[in-house]
Amino acid sequence: MHTLDRLPMNNKVELLKQIPIFSSLSEDHSLELASIAVEKTYRKNQVIFDQGDPGSSLIILKSGLVKISLVDSNDHEFIIKTLGENDFFGEMSLLDGGRRSASATAVEDTRVLIVYRDDFVHLLKKNPGVALHLLTALTQRLRMTTDNITNLTFFDAYGKVARCLLDLAEKGGRKEAEGIVLDVKLSRQELANMAGLTRETFARILKEFQVRGCLVTRGKQIVILNKKILTNEVRLNMG
Ligand code: CMP
Repeated sequence: MHTLDRLPMNNKVELLKQIPIFSSLSEDHSLELASIAVEKTYRKNQVIFDQGDPGSSLIILKSGLVKISLVDSNDHEFIIKTLGENDFFGEMSLLDGGRRSASATAVEDTRVLIVYRDDFVHLLKKNPGVALHLLTALTQRLRMTTDNITNLTFFDAYGKVARCLLDLAEKGGRKEAEGIVLDVKLSRQELANMAGLTRETFARILKEFQVRGCLVTRGKQIVILNKKILTNEVRLNMG
């Protein structure tokens, strides 16, 4: 059994309760989970694990940002998803005993809680509610993967950039008088890797959207001025 102890126990219990898959845990079981979760910090750009590594832990994000990505032999990266506070990852190897299906890297300084397989399975057996929440989360991930396949297969470059920006807006966009502000933490190269485009193509289309009055960029920040244009780009691609 693994113990942790930089975070006071009450904080850990509170944190775990905010995570949807653990929301149905009783007070006793939350305390039990908090006592077995190990706390760890990763620095910006630090690799948490690589695709193909053996893995037997579930990782819960306490703060920070993590990218889940695939990298080919030429170092081309495709970002499947970014995860923030209260998200979790690593459940696939933990559940099926296979190797890590993708790489996980801290995009900024990140703090996590780690739960190991035996402890998690023990908890699952006693808490069918956790299993149900986990199934719901896995189903949502499958749905998102289907959306990703649609994006990569059917969308032209405009649709891919539009979809990427709309996803960012949905996840963390801030509504202000001017428009929807995206405080983008990823580099432009990483955004392109998320959209499945080269950096040059991504930058060219971002510029075109800017000329059309759809958005403005300020450093890494992007402000969507006209969401309708982006939505129409996605619709056009769907025929
Ligand atoms: P695991 O295979 O253990 O390690 C990589 C993790 O990335 C995986 O568990 C999931 O948590 C996450 N992951 C892999 N593929 C996807 C996907 N298509 N959608 C969302 N998350 C994924």
